[in-house]
Amino acid sequence: MIEQSLVFIKPDGVSRGLVGEVLSRFEKRGLTLLKLEMQVLTEALVDGHYAEHVARSFYPELKSYVMSGPVVVMVLVGENAIGAIRKMVGVTNSAEADAGTIRGDFALTTAYNIIHASDSVESGQREIKNFFG
Ligand code: CMP
Repeated sequence: MIEQSLVFIKPDGVSRGLVGEVLSRFEKRGLTLLKLEMQVLTEALVDGHYAEHVARSFYPELKSYVMSGPVVVMVLVGENAIGAIRKMVGVTNSAEADAGTIRGDFALTTAYNIIHASDSVESGQREIKNFFG
């Protein structure tokens, strides 16, 4: 099935100069870049995007992290894109992410894990609307 995923490189990924590396991995895998934009996230967008986490103890830190600088947000399209991208990204806790994944190669913690990718087709559609209108 052809799927669309909303992916964003978080502020630490952008400031560390990892945008090209990450984009290159997705392009080489055969995913198509449909949209690409640098955005400074608003409070309303972040609260909407992380609605399931707003009551969690880590939310204030998460919110200030993703608002600490610009993010690079994209829509990627391809066959089974959601699952393929999640595998390329690696698990949420970067310390446990496999080598060869983006988090496994470039991050060490759960909180600062450099990239977000949609976890289902439905989340992808909601997130694309949230970021691109
Ligand atoms: P992501 O998978 O993009 O979406 C939720 C984010 O919340 C996650 O990446 C982390 O950046 C952050 N997060 C999830 N769990 C924790 C946690 N236990 N402590 C701190 N941050 C977390």
